Amino acid sequence: MASGSPRIGVVGATGAVGTVTLGLLRDHGFEHVRVFASARSAGKQVSGWTVEEATPEALERGDVDVFLFSVGTSASRRLVPHAVAGGATAVDKSSAYRLEPGIPLVVPEVNGNRALEHDGIVANPNCCTIPLTCVLKPLHEEAGLARVRVATYQSVSGAGAQAMERLANESPADHDLRMDWDFDGEEFDEESKLRAETRKIMELPDLPIQATCVRVPVMVGHAEAVWIETEDELTPERATELLAGAPSVRVEQFPSPGKAAGIDEVLVGRIRRDTTVDRGLALFLASDNLRKGAALNAIQIAKLLLGTRAAA
Ligand SMILES: NC(=O)c1ccc[n+]([C@@H]2O[C@H](COP(=O)([O-])OP(=O)(O)OC[C@H]3O[C@@H](n4cnc5c(N)ncnc54)[C@H](OP(=O)(O)O)[C@@H]3O)[C@@H](O)[C@H]2O)c1
Repeated sequence: MASGSPRIGVVGATGAVGTVTLGLLRDHGFEHVRVFASARSAGKQVSGWTVEEATPEALERGDVDVFLFSVGTSASRRLVPHAVAGGATAVDKSSAYRLEPGIPLVVPEVNGNRALEHDGIVANPNCCTIPLTCVLKPLHEEAGLARVRVATYQSVSGAGAQAMERLANESPADHDLRMDWDFDGEEFDEESKLRAETRKIMELPDLPIQATCVRVPVMVGHAEAVWIETEDELTPERATELLAGAPSVRVEQFPSPGKAAGIDEVLVGRIRRDTTVDRGLALFLASDNLRKGAALNAIQIAKLLLGTRAAA
């Protein structure tokens, strides 16, 4: 990477995650930003920057240190290699590279040390995996995870800008739970991603973990009900104390998407015994899927990659 002020490329800048990324880059003091989207958006202005078409030639130009990708999986597979060929490091938020051996999958508070072990690509996890691992990590370090069960309540912004527009124009009478992921006959891919990504980030390849994912008619903010069994005894009081001291986590009596939207921290509360098992805890978390679940986590990764040259 070149010395001097860091140069960031945002690919997918017109999308739900991309627009939040641009706002956060300004907040975090990044000034040298190039923004990209599809040919449909070329020439548009977003947050004061002019959108360029994300062509292989444009991405290979060599004047960007870190690219933040928030396009779909197939566009990422096609475009990320060109960004890397131009000498940049790519932080990719799609599921294209998350489970590839040798590609770090990073939540800075959980396994930030892995970010520098890349060969040009660092993957950003799923928007439910990120807050879940922020909460699981301190509990695992204290008492060892034996089993995790999760039920998600995911907002519509998780499905992108068009889905947000549909919800905004939908009559409340038509609101319903949705399950808009690929189904393999048993599980949605969202559920298997949550399992596989959590295992990879926590470096617990055999962790028993089961998820049921649904999308709720909420605009921003994902919530998760989590049931945890630990190897050693862990009281709700001690778990609360650990979570209160955990980075990017805030204990809140009743977390909700509304309270989490627009803030950086993962909210966690309802921390109580799960009386159905030995050494069981139940808790509830909520986080902003567009910020910590996507854009913010990727900017934190970029800062790790840029080291001391990171903006404030
Ligand atoms: N939404 C979330 O909470 C969330 C969280 C974590 C990860 N992610 C991941 O982030 C990615 C983007 O999600 P999103 O919710 O922001 O989607 P979105 O609102 O639909 O935005 C998609 C963005 O990708 C651009 N794009 C699409 N095809 C492209 C192509 N061939 N070349 C260049 N740009 C292209 C679009 O540009 P145009 O406007 O020009 O079409 C738009 O800027 C997805 O992989 C998603 O899984 C999303």
